[in-house]
Amino acid sequence: MKNKQRISELINNYKNGYSLEQCFYKSQDIYDHEINKIFHKNWILAGHISQIPNIGDYFLFEFDKESIIINRNKDNKVKAHINVCRHRGSHICVEKQGHVKAFTCPYHAWSYDLDGSLIAARLMGEDFDKSQNGLHPAHVELVGGLIFISLAANPLSLTKMNEDLADTFDLYGFSHMKLVKQKTYSIAANWKLALENYQECYHCTPSHKEYAKIHALALSPNKFNQHKERYKKEASGIVRTEPSDAYFDLADEGQEGYQYDRHPLLKNMKSGSLGGKPVSRLLGKLTEYDGGSSEFMVGPVSFFLIYDDYMVGYRFLPTSVDNCICDVFWFVGDAAVENKDYELDKLIWLWDVTTKADEEIIVNNRKGVNSKFYKPGKLSEMETFQQHFLNWYLNTLSAD
Ligand code: FES
Ligand SMILES: [Fe+2]
Repeated sequence: MKNKQRISELINNYKNGYSLEQCFYKSQDIYDHEINKIFHKNWILAGHISQIPNIGDYFLFEFDKESIIINRNKDNKVKAHINVCRHRGSHICVEKQGHVKAFTCPYHAWSYDLDGSLIAARLMGEDFDKSQNGLHPAHVELVGGLIFISLAANPLSLTKMNEDLADTFDLYGFSHMKLVKQKTYSIAANWKLALENYQECYHCTPSHKEYAKIHALALSPNKFNQHKERYKKEASGIVRTEPSDAYFDLADEGQEGYQYDRHPLLKNMKSGSLGGKPVSRLLGKLTEYDGGSSEFMVGPVSFFLIYDDYMVGYRFLPTSVDNCICDVFWFVGDAAVENKDYELDKLIWLWDVTTKADEEIIVNNRKGVNSKFYKPGKLSEMETFQQHFLNWYLNTLSAD
């Protein structure tokens, strides 16, 4: 109760238009609150179906203290269960990925089938009811081939997003992509510093010269809007004419927040690559390069950037108060052939170099935020998206 009051006071004291107080990045109480209110509630990208192509394949999705087994069952369906044995709680899967006939706990060898039902438990007596001791399930939804999970008892609905963006998913071939590379970047900073950094492009010109040569989003809002007006007329990709009303705090009651829009690249740029050159085959139903890239977000920590010929996914997960990971996923159309249609090093170049630079600036940010002289600073007009996130974050923390 005391903690709750303290957190409420901090939230009420937040000055709109400024960065957060230091304790939001350092307090274990606030961190624990975030885990419950956000990471155990909202939908999070767990991975992609191409990571588990066969029955019995699995991989682990992990953050904070949680480990979730994502697997393909005998009916070819994607399932998710908490990686905690119902006997005395051991992790059951210890390898990050693998192929199994059944999940057998390494401690006392209780065994669970691919749907999480307990099928064998040695020497437990006649009256032991196996049917009451299956693995705890987690909710799973597929968006094309993307696997999302929610640990909420009653998860938010993805219906509005799926209806609203059905044409978008179809055009860019969300059901016809394959994951060709995933990289984990460990960042020694609170997860919000990493996320807030992703939400603003005020830092793009000084910190990402490679990105800034390709994307109009790195320009000042005035110049960006001129590019956007020009682009709206020539784009063949799906561009919003009105701002979305489904972003975070604006999402309908019971629905997950999401955001989609398509933005211009700079003149003559075709993709997010060295020199803006194509780096794979066109995605989905696209027939030409339209000089744009789409920003797509599902829930608060999963982001996608859709170029005409590849998609990159970003996911931010906390591992402790002071540490987080940023996972980056690279997708191409499932018909693209390596070394014929795409070369992996060229495909991943931009977002690898950009994420490494981000890692450095986020850690520098953390060092300064930890100083006793740190005070919340004024946000710029290029940090509006970050401000939306902060509003949603504070509302979410203060909700009952
Ligand atoms: S903890 Fe898993 S079988 Fe004992
Ligand atoms: Fe960045």
